[in-house]
Amino acid sequence: MNHKKSWAEPYKIKMVELLKMTTEKDRKKAIREAGYNTFLLRSADVYIDLLTDSGTNAMSDGQWSAFMTGDEAYAGSKSYYNMEKAVQKYYGYKYVVPTHQGRGAENILSKILIKEGDIVPGNMYFTTTRLHQELAGGTFRDIIINEAHDPLSEHPFKGNVDLDKLDALVKQYGPSKIPYISIATNVNMAGGQPISMANLKELREYTHRHGIRIIHDMTRVAENAYFIQQREDGYHQTKIADIVKEICSLTDGATMSAKKDALVNIGGFMATNEWDVYEEARNLVVVYEGLHTYGGLAGRDMEAIAVGIPESLDDNHQHARVGQVEYLGHRMMDFGIPIVRPIGGHGIFVDAKAFLPHLTQDQFPAQCLAAEVYTDSGVRTMERGIVSAGRKPDGSHYYPNLELVRFTIPRRVYTQAHMDVVAESVANVYDRRKKIKGLKMVYEPKYLRFFQARFEKL
Ligand code: F0G
Repeated sequence: MNHKKSWAEPYKIKMVELLKMTTEKDRKKAIREAGYNTFLLRSADVYIDLLTDSGTNAMSDGQWSAFMTGDEAYAGSKSYYNMEKAVQKYYGYKYVVPTHQGRGAENILSKILIKEGDIVPGNMYFTTTRLHQELAGGTFRDIIINEAHDPLSEHPFKGNVDLDKLDALVKQYGPSKIPYISIATNVNMAGGQPISMANLKELREYTHRHGIRIIHDMTRVAENAYFIQQREDGYHQTKIADIVKEICSLTDGATMSAKKDALVNIGGFMATNEWDVYEEARNLVVVYEGLHTYGGLAGRDMEAIAVGIPESLDDNHQHARVGQVEYLGHRMMDFGIPIVRPIGGHGIFVDAKAFLPHLTQDQFPAQCLAAEVYTDSGVRTMERGIVSAGRKPDGSHYYPNLELVRFTIPRRVYTQAHMDVVAESVANVYDRRKKIKGLKMVYEPKYLRFFQARFEKL
């Protein structure tokens, strides 16, 4: 008999962090005090924290030892040169500017490349990325394939660009109004869905013809590469590291939140192949982040990134990483819970519209579901729906098709038993879904409202 071969973690546990166990009464009080916003909970009141995979990774012993060698010199830190060398070696970009995290890089890049009135097409928005584009005077336009907005579509590459949508924008505005195409690998807001190499190559060919740059949001590029290896013809035998290098080679520059793929708790960078863009970025980073050889990071943070990058490209690491996410997804599907398909790279995205069909989108179904799951078990998740989408420049709500609750899995942190607890809790809430009432927003901040908005039960 041929037994199934399970994935398992390519590491063992050397140190543990103890968690506080709470009662349902504690949690009801905590979520009410947090205005039914999981961002406003204290993490000490959380049992399993699936708010985000950002900066919540467990570092390896290799990273912790590199930490001790951090060079904290203000200028010319050797840790900067180690990080620069890793970015050049594994991603292939020529010039690197460190930033405190991804949005620091987005700020600088948007300021350099976008002029008032420009159009920035992208394969779905990300909250901070789009806001920086708008603050620089640009308008974001979504050119992702329609399947990405359909939680049930089984398209293997929901991160793909619809070249007809792009071509219509280029014809309407002309290439001179389009400073770059913003391409995310493993599109977060679509549910952690990959773009295919074939699509990226077509896009490269198109943008070369029209003289338009591709800027790569490479926050989860290794997870995208894993899906290319698993799903795309011609790549089954290719190492993730080589796929990542090829993806980067098809783009002109990048912004990176190292807090995800690169397995650290803080950090990021901007990278470019163009000298004059680099020169301007080196000027701006001094204003907004710190000197161009630390960009808001400690030397030890840059050392941890330099070690984290190659660890993130290891085939066994990604297999276990995405394997754990898939395990949770399958457990939820076994309970009949509606989730975005195919299962994504960094988390499970529960379809709150299908879960709570009796709520209108103005009653914030995903926000509400996230609060219910927390109350049930202390599992913290995040809304990715109408609250996250925010308001248009004219002040009206964006009404995204996708109204999701994201169960985001930190890398190398939780065990399979934790995943069982999560799935069982969602099943519990699903059983009593018809009794769940919506929310109303009682406080709304001006920017990125999902972080601090407050709600009350209807
Ligand atoms: N781009 C993508 C695709 C992201 O997911 C994030 C952050 C950023 C850029 C910004 O990077 O946080 O380092 O400034 N995403 C986090 C999340 C916050 O929870 O998905 P940052």
